[in-house]
Amino acid sequence: MACLLGCSAGGAVLVVLPALLIVSSALKYDPTWASLDTRPLPAWYDEAKFGIFIHWGVFSVPSFRSEWFWWDWQGAKYNDTVDFMQENYPPDFTYADFANQFSAEFYNATQWAQLFQDAGARYIVFVSKHHEGFTNWPSKYSWNWNSQDVGPRRDLVGELATAIKNTTNLHFGLYHSLYEWFHPLYLADKESNFSTQNFVNSKTLRELYELVNTYKPDVVWSDGDWEAPDTYWKSQDFIAWLYNESPVKDTVVTNDRWGQGVMCEHGGFFTCSDRYNPGHIVNHKWENAMTIDSQSWGFRRNTVLSDILPIEQLLEQLVSTISCNGNVLLNVGPTKDGIITPIYQERLLQMGSWLKVNGEAIYGTKPWIYQNDTVTINVWYTLNNKTNPPVVYATLFAWPNANILKLGAPVTTPNTAVSLVGYKGSPFSWTASPGQGLSIIMPNINPNDLPSQWAWVLKLTNLTF
Ligand SMILES: *[C@@H]1O[C@H](CO)[C@@H](O)[C@H](O)[C@H]1NC(C)=O
Ligand SMILES: *[C@@H]1O[C@H](CO)[C@@H](O)[C@H](O)[C@H]1NC(C)=O
Ligand SMILES: *[C@@H]1O[C@H](CO)[C@@H](O)[C@H](O)[C@H]1NC(C)=O
Ligand SMILES: *[C@@H]1O[C@H](CO)[C@@H](O)[C@H](O)[C@H]1NC(C)=O
Ligand SMILES: *[C@@H]1O[C@H](CO)[C@@H](O)[C@H](O)[C@H]1NC(C)=O
Ligand SMILES: *[C@@H]1O[C@H](CO)[C@@H](O)[C@H](O)[C@H]1NC(C)=O
Repeated sequence: MACLLGCSAGGAVLVVLPALLIVSSALKYDPTWASLDTRPLPAWYDEAKFGIFIHWGVFSVPSFRSEWFWWDWQGAKYNDTVDFMQENYPPDFTYADFANQFSAEFYNATQWAQLFQDAGARYIVFVSKHHEGFTNWPSKYSWNWNSQDVGPRRDLVGELATAIKNTTNLHFGLYHSLYEWFHPLYLADKESNFSTQNFVNSKTLRELYELVNTYKPDVVWSDGDWEAPDTYWKSQDFIAWLYNESPVKDTVVTNDRWGQGVMCEHGGFFTCSDRYNPGHIVNHKWENAMTIDSQSWGFRRNTVLSDILPIEQLLEQLVSTISCNGNVLLNVGPTKDGIITPIYQERLLQMGSWLKVNGEAIYGTKPWIYQNDTVTINVWYTLNNKTNPPVVYATLFAWPNANILKLGAPVTTPNTAVSLVGYKGSPFSWTASPGQGLSIIMPNINPNDLPSQWAWVLKLTNLTF
C-alpha cells in the first residue's frame, strides 16, 4: 500500500477528534472499510432526495425481456429469448451484431437534461457500462466494444456529462458494472476462483479511473460485484483513491455494491436490493432504485400499459422512502435511437408537477420521530428543522372521509397551525385528541382548486417534540 500523509493514523484521529473531519480535507482514508465507512456522506446527496437512473446500451436494440437480454439468450437460455432470436434473426447473428443498430440518432443530451430538471430530479445516474461490457464512452480499455467505435459513434457519457453539468440543479453520476458476463479474462479469473486478477487489473479498474478522471461524476454507482469478494475487485483501494485524491474527492458519493457480502454493510449509501424500500427508518443513508416499467430497467418494445407504474404508486414510493431516510433513484430506459418515450416523459413530468407544489416537504428534509402516522394509514411524515419554528409535513394519498383527518402522532400546543401546502385558504381548524394526536377539519375544496393531484401535504408548525 502506498501510504500517504496521515494515512496510517487516519482511523485513530477520526475516533478521537471527529470535528477535524469536517474542517480538514487533508485527512486521508485507509483502504479498509473501517476507515472508508467513517467518511461523512457529502451533504448534497441527502438534500437531493430524488434522482433519475438511465439504463441505455446495446440491450436497448433487441429491447426484449430486459437489459439482461444477452445473458437470458446465451447464459440462462430462456426459451422466450432463444425463440425470439430463432424467429427473428439469422442463425449466425451474434449479440455483438446488435451494436451496429444502436443508432442514437435522436439522442439530444440537452433535451434529456431539460426533462430531468422538469421532473424535479436533483441528480442523475447514467449507465456507463452494463454487464454486457459495452462502454458508452470511448474507453481505451474496451477496444471495438464502445460507443465511439461501433453503433452511435459518439461519446454518450461525455455528451450527457456536459449537458447535466450545464444545469444549475442536477448532479451528474455514473453507474458501472464491475463484472462482464462473457469477458474471457473475467471468465478465466472466475475459473481460478478469483485467485488471478487479470480482468480487474486490465479492464475494470482502468475503466473506473478513466471514468472518474474524464467525467468527474458526483456518484459512482457500482454493480455486478456479487460473484467475487471486494479483495478481488480491489474496491477498497479504488474508493480510498476516490475519497483521498480523485478530482471529485469532496463531492462524490458511492453506493454499497463493491463485492460479495458488502452490499448493505459498507460503502456510501446503501442500496441493499433493487427497489429497496423497507417501510421503516434505516439510520444509514439508503437509496430506493425504482423502475417505471415494473418488469425491466432497459427499454422493452413489448411493454404494456399495465407494466407501467401509475404516478400514485411512484409518489408513494418517493414519499415513504424519504420519510424513512432514503433517496429515490427512478429509472427510465431510452430506446436505441435515444428517445425517452412519452409514457416515461409523462411519469417524469407528473413527478415534476407534484414536486413543484410540494417540494418543500421533500428536498432538504429529515426523517421525523415518526415516519408514518399511528392512526391513519399511509400518511407519511418529514421534518424541516432548519426553520424556526420547525415544520412537520404530513403527506396523504387519500382525501379523508367527511373531511376529517385524524392524526395520531403529533403532540399539539395551543399555537399549533395546520395548512395545506400550495393552498391559500389555510390555516385549517383542528381539535386536540386526548393525550396525543389531533383531528383536522379540512374545508370543502372544489377539486379544481386543489394545489396538486394524487397526494396532498399538510404543514404542521408549533408541535411539541
Ligand atoms: C423450454 O423448452 C424446452 C424444450 O422445448 C422444454 O422442455 C422446457 O419445458 C421449456 N421450459 C420452459 C420453462 O418453458
Ligand atoms: C438539442 O436540443 C436543443 C433544445 O431543444 C436544441 O437547441 C439543439 O439544437 C439540439 N441539438 C441538436 C444537435 O439537435
Ligand atoms: C446550457 O444551458 C443553456 C441555458 O439553460 C442552454 O440554452 C444550452 O442549450 C445548454 N447547453 C448544453 C450543451 O446543454
Ligand atoms: C475452485 O474451487 C472449487 C470448489 O472449491 C474447486 O473444486 C476447484 O478445484 C478450484 N479451482 C481452482 C483453480 O483452484
Ligand atoms: C405505519 O405505521 C404503523 C405503526 O404505527 C404500521 O402499523 C403501519 O402498517 C405503517 N404503514 C403504513 C403504510 O401506514
Ligand atoms: C435537526 O437538524 C440537525 C442538523 O441536521 C440534526 O442534528 C438534529 O438531529 C435535527 N433534529 C431532529 C429532531 O431531527
